[in-house]
Amino acid sequence: MIQVVVLAGLLAAAAFAGAVSATASQDTGGQDSIDLEALRSLYKRPTAIPFPESAPYSPQLATLGKMLFFDPRLSGAKNMNCASCHNPSFGYEAPVELAVGGLNEPLSRHAPTTLNMAWVTPLFWDGRAADLEEQAAGPITAPVEMNGKFDEIIATLSDIAEYRTWFERLFPGTGVSRETILTAIATYERTIVSGWAPFDRWIDGDEGAMSAAAVNGFRLFNGKANCAVCHTGWNFTDNRFHDIGLYTDDIGRAAVDDSMPGNRHAFKTPGLRDLTYRAPFMHNGSVADLEDVIRHYESGGAVRPSRSEHMIPFELSDRERDDLLAFLQALTAEVSETPMPNLPN
Ligand code: HEC
Ligand code: HEC
Repeated sequence: MIQVVVLAGLLAAAAFAGAVSATASQDTGGQDSIDLEALRSLYKRPTAIPFPESAPYSPQLATLGKMLFFDPRLSGAKNMNCASCHNPSFGYEAPVELAVGGLNEPLSRHAPTTLNMAWVTPLFWDGRAADLEEQAAGPITAPVEMNGKFDEIIATLSDIAEYRTWFERLFPGTGVSRETILTAIATYERTIVSGWAPFDRWIDGDEGAMSAAAVNGFRLFNGKANCAVCHTGWNFTDNRFHDIGLYTDDIGRAAVDDSMPGNRHAFKTPGLRDLTYRAPFMHNGSVADLEDVIRHYESGGAVRPSRSEHMIPFELSDRERDDLLAFLQALTAEVSETPMPNLPN
């Protein structure tokens, strides 16, 4: 069972979009075989966030989790927080190929976005964590990342009256613990939802919300360019693992599950929201911009046994490439602001 919570912002946006669709005009174009009307229902964004029964939503818990997400005192040298690598200004990523940890050394992978994690499972590029609670323990304690130790973190947070009070109120009898810290962070992460983009308004019937180029790009995305076989639904991911033929030594999913040849060099399909802030791209940050992403798919990538059967080379005209790009850009939220929390001393 999951608990479903409608956030005020999502609710307001949904009501607004409903009003728009009531007055919207009919189908666009229709000059090719892609049925845009049929596609619309597949991409409709949810109006509520699913929370697990083990960690029901409360605004206080999410606020506490947000404070922890931004608090460098969770790291050994008090020099890093989650936002060091999942920075809201960069679509909850970091603008470097490989994420840089607390030892000032690059890790082996690029930081993925933490947008829309409530709908994403399993976690990590290779899916090695089952849920957000389990995931969050990784970076906090990894020596090359935040290099924190839970007994020290618990002592530090317990010494701060405001933290101590909130933990005791929200987790009576338990207070500050490894588990309650992870629950709070995971609850905040579930509230990080990408905002309404031109694409969402268009899906809801506002024909003018996307340019004709972007609408054609959406057709290509579902047709000739074949992106939608893996990037499915409103968050544009099937949450599965594919080898898309990038040149890499990283065996990806095969380190977790070696039962299928296709798991070698396979990584989890990332969602495509707010892409314009998230460069560079891919598990190793090896692709610099969105045009290069499209050109990679056109080339089909490295030919090897593990490469997905869906990676078939194709060629777009310059105009089509621009249209697909315009569509990807139309997935960026029109308004996104993240107020920084004040942290207690
Ligand atoms: C030093 C940089 C760094 C820090 C600090 C960091 N992360 Fe990450 N994060 C990464 C990298 C790199 C990955 C991908 C690792 C992998 O897949 O092997 C990742 C993966 C994730 C994922 C999985 C996303 C997905 O699509 O599966 C989540 C969620 C996440 N981090 C949350 C957090 C939280 C919460 C914190 C703070 C407690 C944190 N991260 C701190 C670099 C960082
Ligand atoms: C076979 C499944 C598949 C197909 C088809 C596919 N993708 Fe992907 N996409 C993935 C996977 C898996 C990744 C991550 C690969 C990696 O990092 O090694 C990815 C990564 C991306 C990224 C980078 C996102 C990030 O966070 O770094 C973008 C952008 C993207 N794809 C867009 C597209 C577009 C546009 C198309 C169509 C031209 C397409 N994809 C077709 C599976 C697919």
